[in-house]
Amino acid sequence: MSFSYQNHSLHAESVDIADLMASYGSPLYVYSRTDIENNWREFDEAFGQHPHLVCYAVKANSNIAVLNVLAKIGAGFDIVSIGEFERVLAAGGQASKCVFSGVAKTQLEIERGLEVGIRCFNVESEAELNRIEQVATRLKVKAPISIRVNPNVDAKTHPYISTGLKENKFGVDIDDAIALYEKAHNSEYINVQGLDCHIGSQLTDVLPFIDALDKVLELISKLNDRGIEIAHLDLGGGVGIRYDDERVIDISAYVGEMLRRVGDLEIILEPGRAIVGNAGIFVTKVEFLKQNSDKSFAIIDGAMNDLLRPAFYGAYHNVLPINEAAKGVDAIWDLVGPICETGDFLAKDRQLSLSEGDYLAVMSAGAYGFTMSSNYNSRPRVAEVMVSGDTHHLIRKRETIQDLFNTEYIVQSG
Ligand code: LLP
Repeated sequence: MSFSYQNHSLHAESVDIADLMASYGSPLYVYSRTDIENNWREFDEAFGQHPHLVCYAVKANSNIAVLNVLAKIGAGFDIVSIGEFERVLAAGGQASKCVFSGVAKTQLEIERGLEVGIRCFNVESEAELNRIEQVATRLKVKAPISIRVNPNVDAKTHPYISTGLKENKFGVDIDDAIALYEKAHNSEYINVQGLDCHIGSQLTDVLPFIDALDKVLELISKLNDRGIEIAHLDLGGGVGIRYDDERVIDISAYVGEMLRRVGDLEIILEPGRAIVGNAGIFVTKVEFLKQNSDKSFAIIDGAMNDLLRPAFYGAYHNVLPINEAAKGVDAIWDLVGPICETGDFLAKDRQLSLSEGDYLAVMSAGAYGFTMSSNYNSRPRVAEVMVSGDTHHLIRKRETIQDLFNTEYIVQSG
């Protein structure tokens, strides 16, 4: 991990965060290029010589600098919209290494994918297969597809990010998959490539993955018996990270378990959080300290619009002072933002020694941090910086007040 204290000041790689705050202002997202690269390589190298493609899930952090760093080291990409796809292409990623997930691909998205030679569409329903077939027929090309199968496995994670149960909206019921594969196989304009499955996010136990794997391997063998060849198996994303003291999945052990079972089938993975989550932090400034007989509030300049996870999922993020030696008011603090909602907090009940003006790092904020941010309360979205060794680069400039409404129009008549 590249975030550590040097001379009592939190650094990203060799760069002092205090210096970044002086240069770029607050609040700020800061990412470590080295961590991003190492995290992707850990997946990639776990496969050794086995055919595989590690497709980074763009939704976790879609800044084009992040995508560019990953494209340069050979990453593929898992995308869910034409917006994400165009980002990947603009960042130098290859369409032939992109898989297209998501439950409702539009005609435009399918056309664009086919036009630039996307690796595969992960099909989520019969209706979507029909749409892909229509577009491919019109363009007279064969559309490469996988069917996303819902294996009915409990990922044992937060219900909002659990996707592999029958009650979830994702994928095709495993019992209906054979019929849909037969339909796809018999179509002149569909090219069956693989089978896809993603059971949820922030999994900390490998067993649900293995359960799902065993179920889909059984299905693949039934498909092979029917003469439907499956060239790759996409096992989705979902490997969890340590936010607090969670036990985490050992990636090489997970991949090892996988390789013991899959023969020479090519494997695709779609990790997002595990690549960028712990490679990024959100830095915010203490504006005011406000204590009453019950509670101690540190009012910070960052808010739920900048980092939604605590408000939305009750997610825990560790909080560290930028200046480890700072001596202020010792108390158990709630870190709350300036937004007019009681749910606007980034952390609760943290023992910290605080003064007004201190900077705090909200850790593990590289995944689903900036990408889930909004302009709620007309707050401009913050800047993002990437650190590499002793250098730092602005990778997104802070929005201005003018940016907030320059795409809006006043009705001119009357
Ligand atoms: N593939 C598919 C089809 C997905 O739906 C997702 C995440 C991924 C891959 C990447 O999963 P990861 O490796 O990052 O777990 N906003 C939530 C997480 C939502 C995940 C949605 N799908 C959060 O902040 O925890």
